[in-house]
Amino acid sequence: MAFPFVKDFCMAVMTGKTICAAFASVAALFAVATCLARAQAPAPADASPPYRPGLGDLMTMTVQPRHIKLALAGRQKNWTYAAYELHELQEAFDRAAKAWPQWQSVPIADLMTAATKEPIASLARAIKDGASDRFATAYEHLTDTCNACHQAANRPMIVIRVPDASSFPDQDFEPQQQ
Ligand code: HEC
Repeated sequence: MAFPFVKDFCMAVMTGKTICAAFASVAALFAVATCLARAQAPAPADASPPYRPGLGDLMTMTVQPRHIKLALAGRQKNWTYAAYELHELQEAFDRAAKAWPQWQSVPIADLMTAATKEPIASLARAIKDGASDRFATAYEHLTDTCNACHQAANRPMIVIRVPDASSFPDQDFEPQQQ
């Protein structure tokens, strides 16, 4: 008794006599396939659009914590972790620029590359050499570029500085014995 069930199902989905009338014949199998395919059609167009975080949200969620963790890693001379976190910061910049290549009148993607490329390269060199002094200088330079962009983007009230404490009490930034 599969047909009556499928027919009812199809009726309910399609609410049209003409399509479901086909069940009486051998062609019923094709009709079943059609009905099921239509029943599984994508959600209607009025479904809400995917969540798109604002640039300020991405800065707060992804860039800011990585910037803080990088400082803590450098302070503890945890170079393995610092290298990892610098890469994460780079990715956070890349993703923010990809999500917001243009923000208001500001070409974020272009500015992001121009502003952060050099300080990130200096940091990478200092980390590779395990050079604390050069790390500290490069980190200050990176922090200046955060503020330079905020000023260029007419957000001079967003002032970033070198952190003096950890906001991550559950994470140990000291180097681990490998
Ligand atoms: C290429 C430009 C650019 C660079 C580089 C940049 N930012 Fe931003 N940032 C912005 C813009 C523009 C906003 C404001 C976005 C908004 O209001 O929606 C912002 C907002 C923020 C905010 C949100 C402020 C708040 O209190 O809600 C934080 C935090 C932040 N940035 C941190 C940083 C840090 C840390 C760096 C450097 C490691 C950095 N930003 C580098 C452009 C930049």
